Amino acid sequence: MTATSPLLAETIPTPAALSIRLETPDDDAWIEALHEVSFGPGRFARAAYRVRERIAVDDSLSTIAEIDGERAASVRMTPISVGGLNGYMLGPLMTDPQFRKQGAGRALVKHVCDLALARPGIAFVLLVGDFAYYGPLGFERTVPSAIRFPAPVDPARILVMAADASLAETLTGDVAPWV
Ligand SMILES: CC(C)(COP(=O)(O)OP(=O)(O)OC[C@H]1O[C@@H](n2cnc3c(N)ncnc32)[C@H](O)[C@@H]1OP(=O)(O)O)[C@@H](O)C(=O)NCCC(=O)NCCS
Repeated sequence: MTATSPLLAETIPTPAALSIRLETPDDDAWIEALHEVSFGPGRFARAAYRVRERIAVDDSLSTIAEIDGERAASVRMTPISVGGLNGYMLGPLMTDPQFRKQGAGRALVKHVCDLALARPGIAFVLLVGDFAYYGPLGFERTVPSAIRFPAPVDPARILVMAADASLAETLTGDVAPWV
């Protein structure tokens, strides 16, 4: 972005305009409303939701992005294991429609993945999502049908980020609580 492009400069926040903080109980109603707007009535049947029904999210990674001091986006992380390795499942990631395409989603993904993968014993961050969005952020496709969720899921949408580059090819098993 340069000063010669004033229109775009208006729509992309400067780093000063975007800030990241931990979620608090005051955010609950806003997050629930955003969940409904983002995923609609089918949200309770989604495979990732079914995992979160069984395993509590890790509050220390539940994060909000604000733009100009207003809530813009939310992400949560659930501690899971696959095939005996501990990691996190990222999601839901949601940006308020009025704040989309300003980098809040990408900033939250980077923030929580950096924090999670720096923790001792954490081998991966996994999610169910679009490769077109998450691929450029460092996620890779997993082996189709190698990772099993408690509800049907399109295997092409199961993506993983790991320090070990071979993990996307070797990770296999049921999504389960930490071992
Ligand atoms: C996906 C979502 C979180 C992105 O939030 P955001 O804050 O707008 O994301 P960013 O600003 O970091 O990135 C925006 C870019 O990603 C693109 N993008 C958004 N969703 C995408 C998708 N599903 N596939 C590919 N690209 C996508 C946008 O078109 C935009 O592209 P541009 O930079 O070329 O204009 C937001 O669109 C959303 O809440 N969607 C509904 C819920 C959802 O689908 N969550 C993800 C579930 S896995």
